[in-house]
Amino acid sequence: MRADFAPLARQRAASLRGEAVARAVGLKGGQALTVIDATAGLGKDAFVLASLGARVHLIERSPVVAALLADALGRAEQDPALAPAVARMTLYESDAQRLLPVLAAELAAEVVYLDPMYPEAGTKGQVKKDMQLLRMLLGPDTDITPLFEAALAGARRRVVVKRPRRAPPLPGRLPSHSIDGRSTRFDVYLVSPTGGPR
Ligand SMILES: C[S@@+](CC[C@H](N)C(=O)[O-])C[C@H]1O[C@@H](n2cnc3c(N)ncnc32)[C@H](O)[C@@H]1O
Repeated sequence: MRADFAPLARQRAASLRGEAVARAVGLKGGQALTVIDATAGLGKDAFVLASLGARVHLIERSPVVAALLADALGRAEQDPALAPAVARMTLYESDAQRLLPVLAAELAAEVVYLDPMYPEAGTKGQVKKDMQLLRMLLGPDTDITPLFEAALAGARRRVVVKRPRRAPPLPGRLPSHSIDGRSTRFDVYLVSPTGGPR
C-alpha cells in the first residue's frame, strides 16, 4: 500500500472543483485559502484542495501513515503534473490535538478539515481498499471530540467534518449545512461567515 496522488491529477480542474470536499471547504476558482487538514491520512482530500489552489497543512499522528504521505509528497515533487499542487502542501507528523491550536493561530487558517476514521460498522462494502487497510492498521479514531472543539476554536471561517452519509453529526454542535458526496457527507460549521474577526 502506498499513498499516490497521480490518479487524482488525471482529473480535470473542473471535475475536481465539483468534488463535494471542495464545495464544503468553500473553494471557488483559485482562491488562496489556508486549510489545516488535521486528520491527513493518505492525503487524498488534501491533494484535491491543493490542486484547486488552497495552501494545505496536513497533520498526521501515525508515524506509519506520515511516512507513506512523506513518500508520496517526495515522489510528487518530481512529477511536473503534481509538483505545483504539492508545493502548496506541508506535512507535520504530530497529534493534531496538540499542534492544531498553535498552527491555527500562527497561520490564521480559514478552514480546519476533519476526516476521522469511522467507528461505525457496516460500511465496509462502501469503503475503498486503502481505507480498509488504514482501518486495520489504526482502528477507529475514538477521540475526535476534543479535536473537533479545537477545530471550532481555531478556524477563522469554517470547520468541515467528513462523515458517513447516514451517520449523525459529531456531538456538541449542529452543522450550519451539509453537502452530500457519493457515500459520504460533509458537515460544514460556519464559525465566521464573513471571515472577519470574531
Ligand atoms: C480516515 S483517515 C483520513 C483520510 C484522508 N482524508 C484522505 O483523504 O486520505 C483519518 C486519519 O486521521 C489520523 N488522525 C486521527 N486523529 C488524529 C489526530 N488527533 N492527530 C493527527 N492525526 C489524526 C489517523 O491516524 C488517520 O490516518
